[in-house]
Amino acid sequence: MTNSATAVAHANIALAKYWGKRDEALALPATSSLSLTLDAFHATTTVTLDPAADADTATLDGRPMSDGELARVSRFLDLVRSLAGSSARAAVDSVSTVPTGAGLASSASGFAALAGAAAAVYGLDLDARGLSRLARRGSGSASRSVFGGLVVWHAGTDDATSYAEPVPGGEPGGPLDPAMAVVVLDAGRKAVSSREAMRRTVETSPFFPAWAEATERDVALMLDAVRAGDLAALGELAESNALRMHATMLGARPPVRYWTAHTVAVLDQVQALRADGLPCWATIDAGPNVKVLCAAPDLPALADALSDGGTRRVVTARPGPGLRVDAGGAS
Ligand code: DP6
Repeated sequence: MTNSATAVAHANIALAKYWGKRDEALALPATSSLSLTLDAFHATTTVTLDPAADADTATLDGRPMSDGELARVSRFLDLVRSLAGSSARAAVDSVSTVPTGAGLASSASGFAALAGAAAAVYGLDLDARGLSRLARRGSGSASRSVFGGLVVWHAGTDDATSYAEPVPGGEPGGPLDPAMAVVVLDAGRKAVSSREAMRRTVETSPFFPAWAEATERDVALMLDAVRAGDLAALGELAESNALRMHATMLGARPPVRYWTAHTVAVLDQVQALRADGLPCWATIDAGPNVKVLCAAPDLPALADALSDGGTRRVVTARPGPGLRVDAGGAS
């Protein structure tokens, strides 16, 4: 009998952001969102059943997870167990190339990999859509990391209709040929988790309803841009959408601000590079780091400029693959 499974999932960066839930228990988002899965960062997670154990255990990069992290993993496994009709506890071992909790999509790749490995080892028979719905329950953005390249997460209206699926057109060498330079300004853990920050935004920012309405429109416009093979239109929408997300959270009480002076300096530089004829567009998540979208042929020049003479760490990324599950571990 198989008692262990391993899955690999890549991080994704949203071009139209998910920021706000309308149902916390089911992890239903306020809006649809659109992302690019990256080849540069991934999580590899092994789940091993231990029917003799009376509690789950979990490690991240070889160290025991914090109590909070373990509780979140264990709650997710409870969901999988309830779907599988199992009570077996498990050992979760995850290794990630993504700095954790720094707005670099660590929970997206982490929970997508956990969903893949846990579904396999507990014997849930899920197709990719089912895995996306399951991953969503661990972390909303994880629903998108089940797929490679460009991905849309349909907000949906209930558990069955809120899932991600791939959007054709983002393949390497295709009409858009997208790439991303990730400027790692601070890989440390953020002060306010995205979960808490988005909750606070929904509850207290008067701008939130306008944000949600505009983002649903942005997703539709971005899908048009992808179909037209128009990277500039996609990039302009993405930069604007990210700025609006941050404007919305600045309107919360107490306000949420992830930017630092370095963040603003990179935004200025992206604007200047564009003015100099290098097409590129910035996006920022729940942290100070800036991700810059460009066409793949422009990536080396962009990364070189953003590294600022080697003083900044820049990671270059191309579209990455979807979730891979290896249910091979037999006992
Ligand atoms: C800014 O998916 O980490 O990266 O569902 O509460 O786990 P939870 O939130 P999470 O939030 C991601 C927020 C974002 C935007 C995005 O990825 O769309």
